[in-house]
Amino acid sequence: ALLDHLRQVLGRNGDLAGRKVVVSAGGTSEPVDPVRVITNRSSGKMGRALAEAARDRGARVVLVTAADMPPLAGAEVLRVDTVASMRSAVLSACEGADAVIMAAAVSDYRPAEVSSQKVKKADGAGRLTLELVKNDDFMLEIPEGVLRIGFAAESDNVLENARAKVRKKGLELIAANDITEEGSGFGVDTNRVTILDRHGNAECLPLMSKFDAAHRILDRIAKLLR
Ligand code: CTP
Repeated sequence: ALLDHLRQVLGRNGDLAGRKVVVSAGGTSEPVDPVRVITNRSSGKMGRALAEAARDRGARVVLVTAADMPPLAGAEVLRVDTVASMRSAVLSACEGADAVIMAAAVSDYRPAEVSSQKVKKADGAGRLTLELVKNDDFMLEIPEGVLRIGFAAESDNVLENARAKVRKKGLELIAANDITEEGSGFGVDTNRVTILDRHGNAECLPLMSKFDAAHRILDRIAKLLR
């Protein structure tokens, strides 16, 4: 905590001083019943690294996280769980923000009905069908004037899929990574990302720590904000 405070103080005049940056992290979870949830493998490490790095460069940071993590001195940390709670926290944090970096792995679907009682195992039936409904993509609701930076964790056709997301979601930049590659998956401290801009240009970064990758992404954001 002491080191975090020092880093915040030392970074006060950094290239993001006076800027407000919202970061989302972790994998959202959607309840099935009072006991179970549907979630994903996102650890929240990339989002946390981005929040730390942005704070170190002088930004006012709001970190909206769906993953458990220790407090982060010098940043406002909001704990959420479902897509609906992440959506409302991110959209209100976007007020007065300069950039939003959506590093969270947001659930695309949620159970159509949440049972108020624990779902019991049925005798005889070897299968259970769960009906899911689509969650809205709230990236599209982020107000004009806030730079939108997305993430694309893909297992195939990485660059093609990421380029399509830049167009569809009106992003300024997207950080794409191949989750099947060694050192680039979930839960690890490293990542190999390619930063794509809305003109289609690609900057391929080598394998590095998530913290270093966060700084490279913030270098691009700081340049866009100048
Ligand atoms: N995102 C979002 N709201 C959603 C879903 C995704 O803001 N409901 C954001 C993510 O945080 C990420 C970017 O959009 O920055 C891309 O997310 P991803 O899950 O890769 O894209 P999808 O459009 O859901 O495509 P798919 O899961 O089919 O690959």
